[in-house]
Amino acid sequence: MSFHGLGGSGMRGVWEQRRSFGYLEQGGRPTRETVTRLLRVLRPHRGRLALALGLTLFGILLGLVPPLLMRQVIDVAIARKDVGMLVYLAAGLVLFPAAGAVLSVGQSYLNAVVAQGVIHDLRVAMYEHGQKLGIDFFTRTPGGEIHSRLVNDLNAVQQVLGTILTGFFVNVMTIVLTLALMFTLNWQLSLLSMVVLPAFALPVLSFGRRTYDAISRTQESLSHLTAHLEETLTLSGIVVVKSFGTRRREAERMRALSDEVRRNQIAQGMIGRWLGLVFSTMSAVGPALLYGYGGYLVIRGSVQIGTIVAFATYLVQLYSPASSLAGSNTTLLGGLALFDRIFHFLDHPVDVPEPLHAHPLQAVAGVTPVSLTFDGVHFSYRKGEEVLHGISFTASAGELTAIVGPSGAGKSTILSLAARFYDPGEGDVRLLGVPLRDLAEDDLRRLTSVVTQELFLFHQTLDANIRYGRPEATDEDVAAAVQAAQLSELVAQLPEGLRTVVGERGYRLSGGEKQRVAIARAILRNPSLLLLDEATSSLDSHAERLIQQALAELFQGRTVIAIAHRLSTILAADQILVVDQGRIVEQGRHQALLAQGGLYARLYHEQFDTAGPGGEGG
Ligand SMILES: Nc1ncnc2c1ncn2[C@@H]1O[C@H](COP(=O)(O)OP(=O)(O)OP(=O)(O)O)[C@@H](O)[C@H]1O
Ligand SMILES: [Mg+2]
Repeated sequence: MSFHGLGGSGMRGVWEQRRSFGYLEQGGRPTRETVTRLLRVLRPHRGRLALALGLTLFGILLGLVPPLLMRQVIDVAIARKDVGMLVYLAAGLVLFPAAGAVLSVGQSYLNAVVAQGVIHDLRVAMYEHGQKLGIDFFTRTPGGEIHSRLVNDLNAVQQVLGTILTGFFVNVMTIVLTLALMFTLNWQLSLLSMVVLPAFALPVLSFGRRTYDAISRTQESLSHLTAHLEETLTLSGIVVVKSFGTRRREAERMRALSDEVRRNQIAQGMIGRWLGLVFSTMSAVGPALLYGYGGYLVIRGSVQIGTIVAFATYLVQLYSPASSLAGSNTTLLGGLALFDRIFHFLDHPVDVPEPLHAHPLQAVAGVTPVSLTFDGVHFSYRKGEEVLHGISFTASAGELTAIVGPSGAGKSTILSLAARFYDPGEGDVRLLGVPLRDLAEDDLRRLTSVVTQELFLFHQTLDANIRYGRPEATDEDVAAAVQAAQLSELVAQLPEGLRTVVGERGYRLSGGEKQRVAIARAILRNPSLLLLDEATSSLDSHAERLIQQALAELFQGRTVIAIAHRLSTILAADQILVVDQGRIVEQGRHQALLAQGGLYARLYHEQFDTAGPGGEGG
């Protein structure tokens, strides 16, 4: 196997044919900016970090003492045949390392506290930033990619943070202090010991960038693997895989992706490893020179044996930080690669930002009559592909506005803009006369509720799912919502009633039941503006009647904009907007629109003529 084929062409092949990774793709490079930001992240922890470094420094100083004691043993105590002194020195040879060991426990503790603190801060910051990102970001980024940043990248950071925080400092200080002490003992021998030091600088110069690239590649392949797992080994994905019998194909893809991770990890681990060989040889050259030349000096009588022994000990202390310093440079740059990935995520712009100065809305308890206005709204998901071309209408307070139109006309897009999942490119969407982009997110969400076609239930009890939008609701409120949403029968049948866990995506409920849970959730939330995307799933007439009753309860007294598929909703509407190819082509009430004999009449006849009222769900 070769480690040179790092380009990952195999993996890229697999993934390019599948899809693009969109927003999180990056070709980042380490910059001074990354370092400055890293320092900013460390700032809140500087107190503990300083303490850790102080302890470290003290530990290094303690480590410098034993060789001096050895020298005293050989040159003084033995020479003078002073047994009492020998005992003292031997005790010192135990005590100093022991004290150092105690220190290092405290130091590791502080290191862990700082490193985990930094990681915790970043994790929280990433999660909160992710929450602020627009729906657009999530439609373009596989979920696994996002999770991989929060889990895999932060995990890897943990491994390098120790090196970044104290490793660098420890090694530099050890080298500086050891050299300083050696020079005070004997400058000629010190120079001799230093001869090989520059060799350790070699990898510092040549392997940093390669490590940066290798780590970027490893993390990238890890995120692809995670994305694949999340899509194919979760409830929704596995159902598709099973129903199409594509188990083997997905397993093969997984194998290819995992293999890529394996190769990248090995390659990353092997970078600069052969230099260990050079280091070992180098480390042998130093003592050889020392004993050779030092021995000659002893013979000549200009140096005592104890000094040579002390030097030999210092040499060992000198080379190990030098070689790990050489290694830590690669770790440092690798760490920067990880931080670049994390910062890249944190830098991803929030495309639906909170206003700097939000327009104040008085908090009104209960349902307030609100109107929503679209004023000349143009919108495109991608540059140059406009989906809405100048939509204008007003959903008046307390009225029901139904949107109908062929598939792909832009109905869901209008609803998404009303919910401010996106901002319009041109024109305004106004709630109570205030553009949505000038409203505080909390105000907007307090007033509105969105009920989508596809209901997502959290893996919690039915009760918790219904309360999701209003956790403080009383049991009576929940019971009332359950009743209004025609769920009482279902709740009575469930093994543990409202306390039944409804499972990931609410898989244990039928489609019609889930719709009613969504309605109960919205009723409990009691929004002033309800945005509803009616599910199109066909239901038997009993289930359909239950939903119609539940909806009637939900519509009561609110401003509602509904993408309507039910005749009952359409007939109840105060105004119907007929949308086609991003424009409102007809507008009015059912009878008038039907009489016009236009698109509405055609759609109506196509959809409802054969089935008749009540059985129109198909
Ligand atoms: N996230 C998106 N990115 C890019 N284009 C999109 C996105 N969502 C929708 N579109 C496109 O915008 C157009 C309008 O889509 P929209 O979902 O609003 O239609 P719709 O009227 O709700 O259709 P349906 O009745 O089938 O739900 C379609 O051409 C669709 O392909
Ligand atoms: Mg739609």
